[in-house]
Formats: sequence, structure tokens, C-alpha cells
Amino acid sequence: MNSQTFYIKTYGCQMNERDSEIMAGQLRQMGYQPVNDEKSAELIIVNTCAVRGSAEEHALGYIGQLKQLKDQNPSMRLAVAGCMSQEPGTIAWLKKHAAHVDLVFGTHNLHELPKLLDEVEQSDEMVIDVWKSAGEVVEHLPSQRADGVQAFVNIIYGCDKFCTYCIVPFTRGKERSREIPAIVNEVKALAQEGYQDITVLGQNVNSYGHDLNPAVDLADLLVELEKIDGVRWLRYTTSHPRDFSQKLIDTIAQSQKITHHVHLPVQSGSNPILKRMNRKYTREQYLDLIERVKRAIPDAVLTTDIIVGFPGETEEDFEATMDLVRQVRYDAAFTFLYSPREGTPAARWEGRDPVPNPVKKERLNRLMSLQYQISLEANQQLIGRTELVLIEGLSKKNPNVWAGRTHTNKVVLIDRDPAVDLIDRFVPVRITQAKTFYLTGEVVGAPVSDPSPRRRVELPLV
Ligand code: 5AD
Ligand code: SF4
Repeated sequence: MNSQTFYIKTYGCQMNERDSEIMAGQLRQMGYQPVNDEKSAELIIVNTCAVRGSAEEHALGYIGQLKQLKDQNPSMRLAVAGCMSQEPGTIAWLKKHAAHVDLVFGTHNLHELPKLLDEVEQSDEMVIDVWKSAGEVVEHLPSQRADGVQAFVNIIYGCDKFCTYCIVPFTRGKERSREIPAIVNEVKALAQEGYQDITVLGQNVNSYGHDLNPAVDLADLLVELEKIDGVRWLRYTTSHPRDFSQKLIDTIAQSQKITHHVHLPVQSGSNPILKRMNRKYTREQYLDLIERVKRAIPDAVLTTDIIVGFPGETEEDFEATMDLVRQVRYDAAFTFLYSPREGTPAARWEGRDPVPNPVKKERLNRLMSLQYQISLEANQQLIGRTELVLIEGLSKKNPNVWAGRTHTNKVVLIDRDPAVDLIDRFVPVRITQAKTFYLTGEVVGAPVSDPSPRRRVELPLV
């Protein structure tokens, strides 16, 4: 056993966060200890994201900065992992500009981390081991999860959708689902350890199970997970509108545990753009889905992802997106400037028919102001209501404030009472103020042990 220290820097989505937990688990098993600061780490892993150019620039900038640490401490080891490693250009770039990197591995072989670290010690050169495609799903890897009551569980890896702007099918490979019993066992063990708020993960969780024999679906899985004692809130991310079935909507509506936050990335409100994005649904089909969700789950909180400035997007196309946002009235939207990803079809169209940068930015600003106004109005509707809030910790900005979330994923800030510890508890909170990105509230009762999303919290008598 060694007693070396490690630090993992993670960029990108929750799948990457989860991969980092698995890397950390393997390192802990090898005797490594985690540290909170790269300066005192003997091993640094940069887990990269490739979804947009800006994410890549951040990771490359960080890798560049680490050269100084490596110069000061040549025995420090630096590894680059994640989606960028899977891209053909990255290795050539690292060899040319970041020779201080010791190891590059990808998204398909993180289970080989111990062996790869061994190879680094045997080699004088950068060790590069990136698999082009994924092998079988590897079960029973150790993992080091965050403390608390929230845990993330992979259910499906990869994506077969090939939206024309997206790099993920190339970096994460084809869809591979885990078997229901493996997932159930993992969630049972987590519940026994006290994890109560479980999120199942995949690039497209709605296509979960189609590749299994016999085929199953996300609703079947959630029904099984719901039976597990100790699981209180069940979430899933990320969804694709095309595969979001009526069976799933009905399952959520009837469930005692599946939360009422429905994230449905629309990407654009214009049919010609949706077609060129290869999203495989029309604006009308999407709006019909939203209507069905709202009908079955009246208190659903809807959120979305939108890309602005896809190649060839006209003012009319963009107005169709604005109009859709006005119609759906999302509680929140993640809005992105289109970023060309090498090797994707849309990147070729960007060469011929780009939306000029200033136009892209101006559209993004218009969309954000519209969405912020709607988010604020939606949050204002909650003033005076009592919501169950899972208190996650102290506010980063103010240790006298608790920060928590409703099951619909709204952030709630609460003045802390130093006499009680409510962290990791589900607490009734009366909402007192609404802002665009968060609510404030006050605790109006004792923590509850049955925080079902379907539970209506009684308004306290004033
Ligand atoms: N440019 C901009 N945004 C993108 N996304 C995915 N690929 C790109 C790209 N090339 C956005 C989509 C997706 C979210 C995770 O990232 O909106 O839903
Ligand atoms: Fe990318 Fe589309 Fe797959 Fe989502 S569904 S990961 S946007 S290809």
C-alpha cells in the first residue's frame, strides 16, 4: 500500500462527476488519500469535457497551468482523462503543447486506472491508452461518493442519437444499459448507507433498456427502484423528448418518489432547425409532449436546454424558439451558443453557413432576458407556499445560511439556526422571497421522514 495523495479536477456533466467518483474509489483502494488542493497532490487527474469549445479551453488552460507544479515537483504525476481524450486531435495537441502530462486515458477504460498508473512508473514517455470503442459494461468498480444523502447511479452509457451538433456519441460510444438487478443492488446498498436522494444517470436515460434481453424501459426500472426502503426522492437525467413515453409520464404521476422536475431539452423551436439537428421530433410533437406532462403532473417544474446560432439559423427560426419559450414557460433553461465540434455534420455546415458571432450573442442575450423574466415570475408564484426542502449544506457565500433544494430542483436559501443541525434533512419551509435563480424561505416545522413529492405540505396557521 502506498500513502500518496491525489486530486481530481472534473469538468462537464454528471456522468463525468460519476466517473471521477469511480477513479477516486480505485485510488482509495490502492491506498491513495484525497486532498483538496492540487498543490499538495502527488497525482492529479484532469477529467475533461468536450461538449463545447469553452469547456475544452478551460481544461487545456488548467493543464497548462499545472506545468509549473510539475516543474517544482517532478515526481508529481499528471493524467488527462474524459471526453477530450477520446477526440483524435487531443493527443497530438498534448504531445506538442503539454509534454508534462504523464498519462492519457479515455472514457472506456477508467476501470484500468491502477494498471495504467503502474505503466507510468515503468515508462519515460507519455503513456497513452484510449480505446476507440467501449467493451462490456464493467460492474462492481469501487467508488468514492460524496458524503451526504445524494447519490448518482449510472444506468446507461453512451448515446446513439447522433444529433448533428453533438460530440457525445463519438466520445462516449454506443448505448449500453446496465441490467436492472445490478442497478437495484447498487441502489439498495446506497439506501442502506443513508443515501436518500438518488439520481439515475445517462446521456439519454429514456432509451434505457432497449438493448437488454428481454428489453425493458426507464419506467420499469424506476418502479423497481421506488420499492427500495430508504430511497425518498428518485430523479433521472438526461432526457430526450423523442423517447419520453406516455408510460413514463404516467409512472411519474403515480409515483410516491419520482420527483416532479422534468428536464426536456428542446434545443430549438424551429422545425427546419430541429430537422437539421436530427432531433427526430417536430415543434408540434414536443409541445404535445409538454401538454401531456402538464396534464398528468400539474405541479411539474419544466426545464430545458437550448442552442442558439446553429448553422443557418435565421431570425425567423430564432423567433420560433422565443415563441416556444413563451408558450411552455419553463422554470429555467440552460442556453448555449452553438459551438462547432470537429467531426460532427453541423461543424461542416458552420464552415458554409455560420450565424455571425455578434448575431449569435445578441440572440442569446434576448433569449436569456426572456427566460430570466419567466423564471422570476414562476418563482414568485411560490411565495407564501410551504415546500419540502432537502437541506444540502451551508451557502458557499454565507455560513449563516442553509442551502437546499425542493424536489423540483429549486434552490432555497434559509437563515440558519445555529442551535439545530438540519443538513441532509427534509424540512418544511415557507417561501418568503423569489429571485430569478433561487428562493428564500423560513423553516416552519420539524424534519419529515416521508418527503414524498406527492405529499402536500399543509400551510401553517398564521
Ligand atoms: N454547441 C452548443 N451546445 C451544445 N450542446 C451539446 N452540443 C453542443 C454544441 N456543439 C448542449 C445541448 C445539450 C447540452 C448538454 O449541451 O443543449 O443538451
Ligand atoms: Fe448529444 Fe443528442 Fe445524444 Fe444528447 S441525445 S448526448 S445532444 S447526441
